[in-house]
Amino acid sequence: MISSFQHHFILFSLLLPLIATAFATTSVQPKALLLPVSKDASTQQYIVKTTQRTPSKSVPLTLALGSPFLWRDCDKGYVSSTYRPIRCNSAQCTLAGSTACSTCNSPPRPGCNNNTCGLFPENPFTNTATSGELASDIIRINSTDGLNLGPVVSTPNFLFNCAPTFLLKGLAKGVQGIAGFGRTKISIPSQLTSTFSLSKKFALCLTSDVTSVGVIFFGNGPYKLYPGPLYVSSSFSYTPILKNPTTSSDYYVGVSSIKIGGSQVPINKALLSINNKGRGGTKFSTVNPYTIMESSIYKSVISNFDSQLKILYQQRGYPNATRIKAVAPFELCYDSSTISSTRVGVEVPNIELVLQNEKVMWTIFASNSMVGGLKANPNALCLAIVDGGKNPPASIVLGGYQLEDNLVQFDLAKSMVGFRYLVNDMTRCTNFNFTSVA
Ligand SMILES: *[C@@H]1O[C@H](CO)[C@@H](O)[C@H](O)[C@H]1NC(C)=O
Ligand SMILES: *[C@@H]1O[C@H](CO)[C@@H](O)[C@H](O)[C@H]1NC(C)=O
Ligand SMILES: *[C@@H]1O[C@H](CO)[C@@H](O)[C@H](O)[C@H]1NC(C)=O
Repeated sequence: MISSFQHHFILFSLLLPLIATAFATTSVQPKALLLPVSKDASTQQYIVKTTQRTPSKSVPLTLALGSPFLWRDCDKGYVSSTYRPIRCNSAQCTLAGSTACSTCNSPPRPGCNNNTCGLFPENPFTNTATSGELASDIIRINSTDGLNLGPVVSTPNFLFNCAPTFLLKGLAKGVQGIAGFGRTKISIPSQLTSTFSLSKKFALCLTSDVTSVGVIFFGNGPYKLYPGPLYVSSSFSYTPILKNPTTSSDYYVGVSSIKIGGSQVPINKALLSINNKGRGGTKFSTVNPYTIMESSIYKSVISNFDSQLKILYQQRGYPNATRIKAVAPFELCYDSSTISSTRVGVEVPNIELVLQNEKVMWTIFASNSMVGGLKANPNALCLAIVDGGKNPPASIVLGGYQLEDNLVQFDLAKSMVGFRYLVNDMTRCTNFNFTSVA
């Protein structure tokens, strides 16, 4: 733990040659890498299983798309012969953007590493932050050709942050930390792609199925989810990743309007852009289980969804759907027996997020918009969007449920996000073939 801090002022550009050699390479040059990602039934957190330390240990971490780095509990039973604390003023410390350095004099603590680079790990579920040490250790990961598993590869110098055990509060049972995938130089995708000389891309495929696993690919495609096509860059619709000057590690995109059942939803457009205080706009989150919308947008969306559902059912000659009492945290709920369904699922209007330049849309189909099987009322089918209140940090947070069974590619070099709804290709995120051909 860090007892006191001092600040360092180092010119980053002077250290660039050093950083290149700070990462070790392995004998195998993988085409791409892969991490399985599951969904925890009780917390709805997405869990990635990493393999770290010497001897090797499986380390489950909760996926946090916008978090800046990997942090884990090092207080409880961390034993590894390949663990290295990172020194203040080192290239890795600068790469991490650290502004803190730990010393052990106040108060002296057994096992304390003097002169260790400090960072501030945060638990995005409880919004608790503390101080922690930057360290490196070995990480092992499956390589892939996009179709099957290849050999396991490793890097001895993977940077992560050591946090105290109390920071785990609020994380799923057995989880030992946070897998940060944010827009930083030391996030998991940044480190893996630079260490293994891969294209600076990762693709997320989250599953709704708590008994099966989805995948995260690092590097270029192709990506294969059986029996769908071989997904390559041209398979995706792309929109620019927008930067929020205040929350630097989150991924924002530009939603310019919302349509439901093909018609415009009236909203205050000013809320859709990121203002100079960093508020507003639309971001992705794997920490929020459902999409969150600023109150006025939310109210407009639920009333328009309800009226478009009536119009759709009248057009089709179906009896009206019966609206029922709210089931927290959702407000717009129907008696599921009155919701019509087809071979591919329930029939409700699509929600379209019209993205920048009006060229592409993120369509939220029924499987990502309606949620059922709720404990409080198993017969309810609700619109899976929650009210974010007035003046929330982001006006729209596209949550986990809405990302599921979409293959979402983050192209960090081009600063673009590409997406594709897999269900239209008759496949799902659980359909990667985990057979090893190593
Ligand atoms: C850590 O550094 C401080 C300041 O340089 C020094 O006073 C202290 O003795 C050192 N502690 C250990 C455990 O090395
Ligand atoms: C590789 O993938 C297999 C299958 O999912 C898994 O059992 C194994 O633990 C993975 N290995 C590493 C090093 O992650
Ligand atoms: C999975 O991959 C293996 C190895 O390429 C192949 O033999 C097997 O048929 C595949 N399974 C499915 C269900 O496609």
